[in-house]
Amino acid sequence: MTDHPHQLYAIEFTEAEQVRLVGFSCGDEPWSKHVTEWILGSDVLESMKRGTRVWLFETAQAEIVGFGSVGTSVWQWPPPKGERTTIVLIPMLGIDARFRGQPPDPDWRYSRQLMSHLIAEAQRVAREWSGDAEKKPSWLVLMVHQDNARAIHFYEQCGFELIPDVLRRQDHKVMKLWIGD
Ligand SMILES: CC(C)(COP(=O)(O)OP(=O)(O)OC[C@H]1O[C@@H](n2cnc3c(N)ncnc32)[C@H](O)[C@@H]1OP(=O)(O)O)[C@@H](O)C(=O)NCCC(=O)NCCS
Repeated sequence: MTDHPHQLYAIEFTEAEQVRLVGFSCGDEPWSKHVTEWILGSDVLESMKRGTRVWLFETAQAEIVGFGSVGTSVWQWPPPKGERTTIVLIPMLGIDARFRGQPPDPDWRYSRQLMSHLIAEAQRVAREWSGDAEKKPSWLVLMVHQDNARAIHFYEQCGFELIPDVLRRQDHKVMKLWIGD
């Protein structure tokens, strides 16, 4: 069976893959530049040392469309003042600006394929949790710049909800998706 022409393939990211990212750019907005710098620089490597897994998403022609990451963290939950709880976190994700909104068919939209992979990985982390049962994570969490309306809209389409009245890093909203039993 031949795969659909817009099928993306997830490749586990390692430091050696960084050379392939020359020219990769998520766009010119300040938050987009930050995302590009994260994957091209040392931040991604530091995050991987803390247990984050990172994937590149590429077409059948090996064009890199974007990247995504999943890790765990201990947060006060619900933020800002709840009990210390393990959550699954998406530290960073981005799509090369050339591929935003592509392809037009929403069933094959690259952003959705990328997020489906990250949600499935987050669910797997929760399902295969080997630590204390009461610390098993139930929420997938991400932070998004409050002015990044495109990303917020996209995350809401994927089922994430904004947590009202909570800001992290001064200007980032927190969004959550239930991945518990
Ligand atoms: C966030 C990102 C991954 C989303 O991928 P994408 O391909 O742009 O997303 P999509 O086009 O599938 O979805 C965005 C939706 O928001 C809509 N949208 C676009 N601009 C918008 C705006 N200013 N306000 C509200 N909605 C907007 C789009 O129309 C689309 O909705 P639709 O599918 O109903 O038309 C991508 O834009 C990106 O990498 N941006 C730069 C880096 C970044 O911000 N990363 C996230 C850090 S938290």
